[in-house]
Amino acid sequence: MAIPFSQFRPITSTTGPFSSFLLLIKLFLLISVCASLFIVNCHGFSIKEASIQDIQLTFKNNILTSRQLVQHFIQEIQTLNPILNAVIEVNPDVLSQADKADIERKMPRPSSLKPLGELHGIPILLKDNIATKDKLNTTAGSFALLNSVVPRDAGVMRKLRKAGALIMGKASLSEWSHFRGTTVPSAWCGRSKQGVNPYVILSKIPFSRGPCGSSSGSAISVAANLVTVPMCKTVSDAVYVLNSIVGFDPNDAVATSSAAKFIPKDGYSHYLKKDGLRGKRLGIVRIFFDGPLLQLFEGHIETLRQAGAVIVDNLEIDNIQTIYDPSSGEMPAMLSEFKQSLNVYLKDLVTSPVRSLADVIAFNKNNPSLEITDVYDQNTMIDAEKTRGNEAERQGALLNMQKLDNEGFKSMMIKNNLDAVVTPGNSFSTVLAIGGHPGIIVPAGYEDDGMPVGICFGGLRGSEPKLIEIAYGFEQITLIRKPPPSTTFISDV
Ligand SMILES: *[C@@H]1O[C@H](CO)[C@@H](O)[C@H](O)[C@H]1NC(C)=O
Repeated sequence: MAIPFSQFRPITSTTGPFSSFLLLIKLFLLISVCASLFIVNCHGFSIKEASIQDIQLTFKNNILTSRQLVQHFIQEIQTLNPILNAVIEVNPDVLSQADKADIERKMPRPSSLKPLGELHGIPILLKDNIATKDKLNTTAGSFALLNSVVPRDAGVMRKLRKAGALIMGKASLSEWSHFRGTTVPSAWCGRSKQGVNPYVILSKIPFSRGPCGSSSGSAISVAANLVTVPMCKTVSDAVYVLNSIVGFDPNDAVATSSAAKFIPKDGYSHYLKKDGLRGKRLGIVRIFFDGPLLQLFEGHIETLRQAGAVIVDNLEIDNIQTIYDPSSGEMPAMLSEFKQSLNVYLKDLVTSPVRSLADVIAFNKNNPSLEITDVYDQNTMIDAEKTRGNEAERQGALLNMQKLDNEGFKSMMIKNNLDAVVTPGNSFSTVLAIGGHPGIIVPAGYEDDGMPVGICFGGLRGSEPKLIEIAYGFEQITLIRKPPPSTTFISDV
């Protein structure tokens, strides 16, 4: 695989002390990139912003080992997590997994065996609601699930292990994926408290500048370089992770077998095309564009046009009000499905302090000091408990969503022959979710106080290849992603 050095980004501060291996990498890269002695003209480089491709190259050239990489991230987590509250647990076995990967990489590999995977030796954090059958707890951030024992790895977990990823630990999240109550702040969970947005730590209005959710800890960790990937910093990293986790899962058979037909035989990597925007038809739904960032997004629409995309402007989704109405949109389906699925999950655990949604509600009520139940409510769970939570109810709710999707987003996409819709931030996720459609969000800019904003590209089911072309095309033209400024941290490595 060709690995462009240009993927390395300059670090924003060179004042912090470098450990010896970082210095080594830095020197190596300066020499490689500059290919001359005039290294003072080059920016410094750091493992800090390194992508999967960058790291695989340093592995290959014996510049870096998985153990060194993992040690670096453990150090970063120890330094920064007390401020950010993004990681709930570090895997006590991650260093031995790293050693194993380092040995495998050095061993001669017979051609009869498949080459080592793209994620081999790469540390990954898992959101705390993804089951791992190891020393780590899986708790969705809640004390109610502490000491529960899962029967098996989740499907994606099995695939990640097979791909050779190193399990760094568990990332925090909005507790229960923000499905406990409406007064529970986003990015808060009982076990690791309030997650903090690393770009605006000193913000006077922390909740409005929060890290969003529900994957708050994953987002904070990767943005602040506490790990290589949970979510991803770049489109290419996202593609390598996607390559490794897609496919059939016997424990989620209906959904994964119907989606399997969309997976390209040779994976998603070759859709990382620099000119991926050329000829793409992109729809603009104006109702999502407002506020102080309007100018920024007008600029991006112009950028997309200049890169060869055809902009289809001023589109409307006929039933948009109904889709976002809590009584007629996705909420009834989510409440019913949450009760049904959670009860199945809890009953299936090997051991657990709670065995049903009703048990969880009782636990929260009886443990206000752990779950702050006297301040943060659990009304969403109580509403879910009131549903029948059975298959007939779920099917009814799903049919309604299919109708909303057919009459809304889907019909607009088909009528206008669109490849994707472009919207600011994550506000479009509901429209996509009700139809099971994919979306990808790429960094789009920063507000005055440093708050990052994204741009979302959403398309019809199975359009991942096109979305990757579009997102990568946009990312490579704009290169907006930058790490949080080191001045927001007490210490910078
Ligand atoms: C899992 O939770 C138990 C109980 O709190 C704790 O003793 C253990 O250290 C946790 N595991 C990890 C890997 O942190």
